[in-house]
Amino acid sequence: MAHQGTAETGYRTAPLLDFVTRTIAREEPALRDIRETTEAKGLPAISVGPDEGRLLHFLASACGARKIVEVGTLAGYSACWLAKALPEGGMLHTIEYDPKHAKVAKENIGLAGLTAKVTVHTGPGMAVLPTLEAHGPFDLVFIDADKTGYEGYARWASNNVRSGGFVICDNAYLFGNLHRDDLPKDHEDKPKVAPMRAALSLLADESLFSSCAMVPTGEGMAVAVRR
Ligand SMILES: C[S@@+](CC[C@H](N)C(=O)[O-])C[C@H]1O[C@@H](n2cnc3c(N)ncnc32)[C@H](O)[C@@H]1O
Repeated sequence: MAHQGTAETGYRTAPLLDFVTRTIAREEPALRDIRETTEAKGLPAISVGPDEGRLLHFLASACGARKIVEVGTLAGYSACWLAKALPEGGMLHTIEYDPKHAKVAKENIGLAGLTAKVTVHTGPGMAVLPTLEAHGPFDLVFIDADKTGYEGYARWASNNVRSGGFVICDNAYLFGNLHRDDLPKDHEDKPKVAPMRAALSLLADESLFSSCAMVPTGEGMAVAVRR
């Protein structure tokens, strides 16, 4: 049968994606509230979407995660999806640089009834991560913060995820600029290209990770399994 999609979009029309979001992602009202109130609470609406949230939940479930680290909390939306996959006694450590974001996230995580499973750490990712090492090794690390920090975050993750655990990088297409060698010097993504490529090269290093895949979400989500 002829392939009807295009290389760039496949079959991903807006109505089809809406259908999938309603029937497969099945975002709970508490999580939808977090996403829909983010801007009203003065934070940027840059969380993952419901389908990516479901993907994170799936991946955490697939590796039987009990201990998770997230870098980049914002309002706690992806944190809640990840925490919902944790069993009783499981813990997600999520790190947020901006104290206002961290405050809103704590409130939202409370409203979602997930306070017992989530610890919000306020500070820069590279300063907080070393303080978490005693809780490791971790089953999953999700990286979704400043793109210039991705190489350092990915390196930390590769050293602190157990064998069979997942390292996940969001925005891996770098807003469409991952492959661009010709970005103008003053382009806002220019300083992010090298650290993102370095992070993805690390995940694609077969001596460290047994498999790495780019999940073709709108933003690109790279997933790798630690050896
Ligand atoms: C894309 S948002 C995270 C979205 C969130 N993961 C979600 O999907 O619900 C990125 C967040 O990373 C935070 N951030 C930026 N630089 C950071 C750093 N150096 N350390 C920790 N967090 C940082 C930003 O303040 C912002 O809240």
